[in-house]
Amino acid sequence: MNTISETPLFLRALNGEKVDRTPVWIMRQAGRYLPDFITLKNKYDFFTRCQTPELVTEITLMPIKQIGLDAAIIFSDILVIPQAMGVNVEMKNNFGPYIEFPIKNESDIHKLNISNVEEKLNYVFEAVKMTKKELQYNIPLIGFAGSPWTILCYMVQGSGSKTFDIAKSFCFKNPELAHKLLNKITSITIDYLKMKINAGVDAVQIFDSWGGVLSHTDYNVFSYPYIKQINDALKILRPIIIYPKGCWHAINSFSKIGASGLGIDWTCSARNARYLSGNNITLQGNMDPSRLFSPKNELIKLTKEMLNEFGKEKYIANLGHGILPNTPVDNVKVFVDTIKNFS
Ligand code: CP3
Repeated sequence: MNTISETPLFLRALNGEKVDRTPVWIMRQAGRYLPDFITLKNKYDFFTRCQTPELVTEITLMPIKQIGLDAAIIFSDILVIPQAMGVNVEMKNNFGPYIEFPIKNESDIHKLNISNVEEKLNYVFEAVKMTKKELQYNIPLIGFAGSPWTILCYMVQGSGSKTFDIAKSFCFKNPELAHKLLNKITSITIDYLKMKINAGVDAVQIFDSWGGVLSHTDYNVFSYPYIKQINDALKILRPIIIYPKGCWHAINSFSKIGASGLGIDWTCSARNARYLSGNNITLQGNMDPSRLFSPKNELIKLTKEMLNEFGKEKYIANLGHGILPNTPVDNVKVFVDTIKNFS
């Protein structure tokens, strides 16, 4: 029986309902720092881990069992989308994503194939189904995708970058081509997320990890409209969380489009985020991931300050970006337990 009062905390907070305590999960919780994950990482290459539903389920559940978070996020990557479009993406050790033949011109964009997602990414949907069977009913499963802008950054730059200079100059020199590419990515992302929802995810997060490399005016041209399209297509199906890193200027607009949650990074204060969002939307964040390296008593103090600043209503505790590799597991537990025991 699933009465309203049994709705999991995380989903209650996303719905703007009252909660007994603040729910907490951690971006990138399913990888990076847990010793059991490192063991699997040394045994199987990255995309083998992503493509094997049994491994995905095991990795997704690790932080739930070991740290006790209030939501799970399916182990996968935002770069399965370019792969499904026919781009060869490698994950190189100590380097990150690498694309030997990045997008350069109209014919490259024309060749991108956005059909048959169901078949090409079937391994993700199988993994979602398997993971849902293993998860307790009170731990919702988050599905995710990159924003079209963030995906374009990798597809055109060919790797990670501090500035994404190649991707940006491509867009500024060929805006029409950039919009063609963004439209294709948006379309396949909507199909993909609908299928993830059909497979069983309870909420969806859109990672705009590189929105912050754009000026606020360029953001409104190259990123915001495409995230809005995804949100418009999916918001009636499941709660959507938008995470626009480095884009405090977009908080106001994103608070008005019917998304359920907005991820805040650590450069924006809770007070400013509440003001800009008009308290219209659940906020999620925003501890600096590096603060998990602080001495424990300081971490506890800062975590309590964060909880006081955001308040109990319409709030999901999290970091302001993904957890860093080498974060001490004990400190992750201190962060999470401080949130769960706070009153
Ligand atoms: O909680 C989770 O970890 C869920 C799975 C997850 C991964 N990537 C696994 C992963 C999620 C949600 C992502 C999202 C992702 N991937 C983003 C957006 C979030 C963010 O951090 O900004 C981005 C930009 C990527 C692209 C990507 N994938 C990069 C830049 C890298 C290399 C560096 C790194 O570790 O982030 C990856 C590889 C990757 N994706 C790893 C993991 C666990 C590490 C490589 C490995 O395990 O072999």
